[in-house]
Amino acid sequence: FAPKTMVGQQVLVTAGPTYEAIDPVRGITNLSSGKMGFAIARAARMAGAQVTLVAGPVHLPTPRGVQRIDVRSAREMLEAVQAQVDKASVFVATAAVADWRPDVQADQKIKKDGSGQTPALKFVENPDILATVAQSTRAQSGALFCVGFAAESHDLLAHATAKRIRKGVPLLVGNIGPATFGQDDNALLLVDDAGARELPHASKQALAEQLIADIARRLK
Ligand code: C5P
Repeated sequence: FAPKTMVGQQVLVTAGPTYEAIDPVRGITNLSSGKMGFAIARAARMAGAQVTLVAGPVHLPTPRGVQRIDVRSAREMLEAVQAQVDKASVFVATAAVADWRPDVQADQKIKKDGSGQTPALKFVENPDILATVAQSTRAQSGALFCVGFAAESHDLLAHATAKRIRKGVPLLVGNIGPATFGQDDNALLLVDDAGARELPHASKQALAEQLIADIARRLK
Protein backbone atom coordinates (compact mmCIF):
# COMPACT_ATOMS: atom_id res chain seq x y z
CA PHE A 1 0.00 0.00 0.00
CA ALA A 2 1.08 3.57 -0.71
CA PRO A 3 2.15 5.53 2.37
CA LYS A 4 -0.59 7.98 3.41
CA THR A 5 1.59 11.05 3.02
CA MET A 6 -1.25 13.31 1.79
CA VAL A 7 -3.88 12.77 4.47
CA GLY A 8 -5.61 16.10 5.22
CA GLN A 9 -4.59 17.62 1.88
CA GLN A 10 -7.09 18.80 -0.75
CA VAL A 11 -5.59 18.33 -4.20
CA LEU A 12 -6.99 19.99 -7.33
CA VAL A 13 -5.72 18.69 -10.68
CA THR A 14 -6.36 19.84 -14.26
CA ALA A 15 -5.88 17.26 -17.01
CA GLY A 16 -6.30 16.63 -20.69
CA PRO A 17 -6.69 19.03 -23.60
CA THR A 18 -9.23 21.78 -24.00
CA TYR A 19 -11.59 22.02 -26.96
CA GLU A 20 -12.28 25.43 -28.46
CA ALA A 21 -15.41 25.53 -30.60
CA ILE A 22 -15.50 27.08 -34.08
CA ASP A 23 -19.18 26.25 -34.56
CA PRO A 24 -21.54 23.64 -33.01
CA VAL A 25 -19.83 20.73 -34.80
CA ARG A 26 -16.23 21.85 -35.25
CA GLY A 27 -13.43 22.92 -32.98
CA ILE A 28 -9.74 23.05 -32.22
CA THR A 29 -8.02 20.81 -29.72
CA ASN A 30 -4.69 19.01 -29.16
CA LEU A 31 -3.40 15.48 -28.64
CA SER A 32 -3.13 15.50 -24.84
CA SER A 33 -4.47 12.17 -23.52
CA GLY A 34 -4.92 13.27 -19.90
CA LYS A 35 -3.00 10.20 -18.69
CA MET A 36 -0.44 12.08 -16.59
CA GLY A 37 -3.07 14.20 -14.82
CA PHE A 38 -5.32 11.22 -14.16
CA ALA A 39 -2.32 9.28 -12.79
CA ILE A 40 -1.53 12.20 -10.47
CA ALA A 41 -5.13 12.36 -9.26
CA ARG A 42 -5.08 8.60 -8.58
CA ALA A 43 -1.71 8.79 -6.80
CA ALA A 44 -2.86 11.70 -4.61
CA ARG A 45 -6.01 9.79 -3.66
CA MET A 46 -3.99 6.65 -2.88
CA ALA A 47 -1.80 8.81 -0.63
CA GLY A 48 -4.90 9.85 1.34
CA ALA A 49 -5.78 13.27 -0.16
CA GLN A 50 -9.24 14.50 -1.11
CA VAL A 51 -8.92 14.95 -4.87
CA THR A 52 -10.86 16.97 -7.45
CA LEU A 53 -9.99 16.43 -11.10
CA VAL A 54 -11.03 19.00 -13.69
CA ALA A 55 -10.82 17.17 -17.01
CA GLY A 56 -10.99 18.33 -20.59
CA PRO A 57 -12.36 15.94 -23.23
CA VAL A 58 -10.51 12.64 -22.68
CA HIS A 59 -11.32 8.94 -22.88
CA LEU A 60 -10.25 7.79 -19.44
CA PRO A 61 -12.09 6.26 -16.48
CA THR A 62 -12.36 8.34 -13.32
CA PRO A 63 -9.86 7.13 -10.68
CA ARG A 64 -11.61 5.54 -7.69
CA GLY A 65 -12.54 8.01 -4.98
CA VAL A 66 -11.78 11.08 -7.09
CA GLN A 67 -14.35 13.84 -7.72
CA ARG A 68 -14.34 14.61 -11.46
CA ILE A 69 -15.62 17.70 -13.22
CA ASP A 70 -15.74 17.53 -17.03
CA VAL A 71 -15.20 20.71 -19.04
CA ARG A 72 -14.54 21.54 -22.67
CA SER A 73 -13.00 24.96 -23.19
CA ALA A 74 -10.20 26.81 -21.39
CA ARG A 75 -12.72 29.30 -20.05
CA GLU A 76 -14.88 26.49 -18.64
CA MET A 77 -11.77 24.93 -17.11
CA LEU A 78 -10.83 28.24 -15.45
CA GLU A 79 -14.38 28.62 -14.10
CA ALA A 80 -14.38 25.08 -12.66
CA VAL A 81 -10.94 25.61 -11.12
CA GLN A 82 -11.97 28.92 -9.56
CA ALA A 83 -15.05 27.27 -8.06
CA GLN A 84 -12.87 24.57 -6.42
CA VAL A 85 -9.55 26.23 -5.64
CA ASP A 86 -10.52 27.99 -2.40
CA LYS A 87 -10.69 24.67 -0.57
CA ALA A 88 -7.52 23.26 -2.18
CA SER A 89 -4.11 23.04 -0.53
CA VAL A 90 -2.34 21.75 -3.66
CA PHE A 91 -2.98 22.67 -7.31
CA VAL A 92 -1.38 20.57 -10.05
CA ALA A 93 -1.89 21.92 -13.58
CA THR A 94 -1.21 19.17 -16.09
CA ALA A 95 -3.84 20.22 -18.64
CA ALA A 96 -2.68 21.13 -22.14
CA VAL A 97 -4.83 24.24 -22.25
CA ALA A 98 -5.29 25.71 -25.73
CA ASP A 99 -3.31 28.94 -25.92
CA TRP A 100 -5.85 30.48 -28.29
CA ARG A 101 -9.52 30.13 -29.19
CA PRO A 102 -11.43 31.36 -32.26
CA ASP A 103 -12.54 34.92 -31.55
CA VAL A 104 -16.17 34.03 -32.32
CA GLN A 105 -18.04 30.73 -31.98
CA ALA A 106 -20.73 30.54 -34.68
CA ASP A 107 -24.03 29.38 -33.19
CA GLN A 108 -24.92 27.58 -36.42
CA LYS A 109 -22.78 25.25 -38.52
CA ILE A 110 -20.69 27.24 -40.99
CA LYS A 111 -21.82 26.14 -44.49
CA LYS A 112 -19.89 25.78 -47.72
CA ASP A 113 -21.54 28.26 -50.06
CA GLY A 114 -20.14 26.79 -53.30
CA SER A 115 -18.06 29.84 -54.12
CA GLY A 116 -14.79 28.13 -53.18
CA GLN A 117 -14.21 30.74 -50.46
CA THR A 118 -12.79 29.43 -47.19
CA PRO A 119 -13.62 30.84 -43.78
CA ALA A 120 -10.85 32.81 -42.07
CA LEU A 121 -10.23 31.96 -38.44
CA LYS A 122 -9.08 34.68 -36.10
CA PHE A 123 -7.83 33.84 -32.63
CA VAL A 124 -7.83 35.46 -29.23
CA GLU A 125 -5.70 34.41 -26.27
CA ASN A 126 -7.14 32.10 -23.61
CA PRO A 127 -6.73 32.80 -19.90
CA ASP A 128 -3.67 31.22 -18.28
CA ILE A 129 -5.26 29.10 -15.54
CA LEU A 130 -2.05 28.23 -13.71
CA ALA A 131 -0.70 31.78 -13.72
CA THR A 132 -4.07 33.11 -12.53
CA VAL A 133 -4.21 30.66 -9.62
CA ALA A 134 -0.53 31.17 -8.76
CA GLN A 135 -1.12 34.92 -8.37
CA SER A 136 -3.89 34.42 -5.81
CA THR A 137 -3.38 35.49 -2.21
CA ARG A 138 -3.54 31.90 -0.94
CA ALA A 139 -0.88 30.74 -3.39
CA GLN A 140 1.33 33.74 -2.60
CA SER A 141 1.03 33.12 1.15
CA GLY A 142 1.93 29.42 0.80
CA ALA A 143 -1.54 28.13 1.79
CA LEU A 144 -1.91 26.74 -1.74
CA PHE A 145 1.06 24.89 -3.28
CA CYS A 146 1.05 25.23 -7.09
CA VAL A 147 2.74 22.85 -9.51
CA GLY A 148 3.05 23.50 -13.25
CA PHE A 149 3.99 21.24 -16.14
CA ALA A 150 5.94 21.95 -19.29
CA ALA A 151 6.22 20.05 -22.54
CA GLU A 152 9.15 21.34 -24.56
CA SER A 153 10.82 20.03 -27.67
CA HIS A 154 14.31 21.27 -26.74
CA ASP A 155 16.36 22.93 -23.96
CA LEU A 156 13.99 21.54 -21.32
CA LEU A 157 15.95 22.72 -18.27
CA ALA A 158 16.28 26.30 -19.51
CA HIS A 159 12.66 26.52 -20.62
CA ALA A 160 11.32 24.86 -17.47
CA THR A 161 13.40 27.18 -15.28
CA ALA A 162 12.12 30.25 -17.12
CA LYS A 163 8.54 28.96 -17.08
CA ARG A 164 8.66 28.35 -13.32
CA ILE A 165 9.55 32.01 -12.78
CA ARG A 166 7.10 33.31 -15.38
CA LYS A 167 4.18 31.32 -13.97
CA GLY A 168 5.16 32.17 -10.40
CA VAL A 169 5.11 28.57 -9.06
CA PRO A 170 7.47 26.86 -6.59
CA LEU A 171 7.65 23.63 -8.62
CA LEU A 172 7.64 23.15 -12.40
CA VAL A 173 7.71 19.64 -13.85
CA GLY A 174 9.17 19.14 -17.31
CA ASN A 175 8.17 16.24 -19.53
CA ILE A 176 11.40 14.69 -20.75
CA GLY A 177 10.11 13.90 -24.21
CA PRO A 178 10.03 13.58 -27.01
CA ALA A 179 6.34 13.03 -27.67
CA THR A 180 4.94 11.95 -24.33
CA PHE A 181 1.36 12.74 -25.44
CA GLY A 182 -0.69 9.56 -25.31
CA GLN A 183 2.17 7.36 -24.08
CA ASP A 184 1.88 5.24 -20.95
CA ASP A 185 5.33 6.21 -19.73
CA ASN A 186 7.48 9.28 -19.41
CA ALA A 187 10.44 10.77 -17.55
CA LEU A 188 10.18 13.97 -15.54
CA LEU A 189 12.43 16.84 -14.58
CA LEU A 190 11.47 18.53 -11.28
CA VAL A 191 12.62 22.16 -11.25
CA ASP A 192 12.47 24.30 -8.10
CA ASP A 193 14.39 27.29 -6.75
CA ALA A 194 17.28 25.04 -5.69
CA GLY A 195 17.78 23.33 -9.04
CA ALA A 196 16.57 20.28 -10.93
CA ARG A 197 16.07 16.60 -10.17
CA GLU A 198 15.24 13.89 -12.69
CA LEU A 199 12.68 11.15 -12.18
CA PRO A 200 13.92 8.55 -14.67
CA HIS A 201 11.84 6.81 -17.30
CA ALA A 202 8.92 4.88 -15.79
CA SER A 203 5.17 4.42 -16.17
CA LYS A 204 3.14 7.60 -15.74
CA GLN A 205 1.51 5.97 -12.69
CA ALA A 206 4.88 5.25 -11.05
CA LEU A 207 6.06 8.79 -11.84
CA ALA A 208 2.84 10.27 -10.46
CA GLU A 209 3.40 8.39 -7.19
CA GLN A 210 6.98 9.70 -6.97
CA LEU A 211 5.82 13.23 -7.74
CA ILE A 212 3.09 13.08 -5.08
CA ALA A 213 5.65 11.80 -2.54
CA ASP A 214 7.92 14.71 -3.49
CA ILE A 215 5.08 17.24 -3.15
CA ALA A 216 4.11 15.75 0.24
CA ARG A 217 7.66 16.35 1.51
CA ARG A 218 7.48 19.97 0.36
CA LEU A 219 4.23 20.49 2.31
CA LYS A 220 5.85 19.53 5.60
O1 C5P B 1 2.81 28.16 -21.09
P1 C5P B 1 2.61 26.69 -21.14
O2 C5P B 1 1.34 26.27 -21.80
O3 C5P B 1 3.77 25.91 -21.69
O4 C5P B 1 2.53 26.29 -19.59
C1 C5P B 1 2.24 25.01 -19.18
C2 C5P B 1 1.68 25.00 -17.80
O5 C5P B 1 0.72 26.03 -17.62
C3 C5P B 1 0.95 23.73 -17.53
O6 C5P B 1 1.01 23.48 -16.15
C4 C5P B 1 -0.47 24.06 -17.99
O7 C5P B 1 -1.43 23.23 -17.39
C5 C5P B 1 -0.59 25.50 -17.53
N1 C5P B 1 -1.46 26.34 -18.38
C6 C5P B 1 -2.68 26.79 -17.89
N2 C5P B 1 -3.47 27.61 -18.67
C7 C5P B 1 -3.06 27.99 -19.90
C8 C5P B 1 -1.83 27.54 -20.41
C9 C5P B 1 -1.06 26.71 -19.62
O8 C5P B 1 -3.06 26.44 -16.76
N3 C5P B 1 -3.83 28.78 -20.64
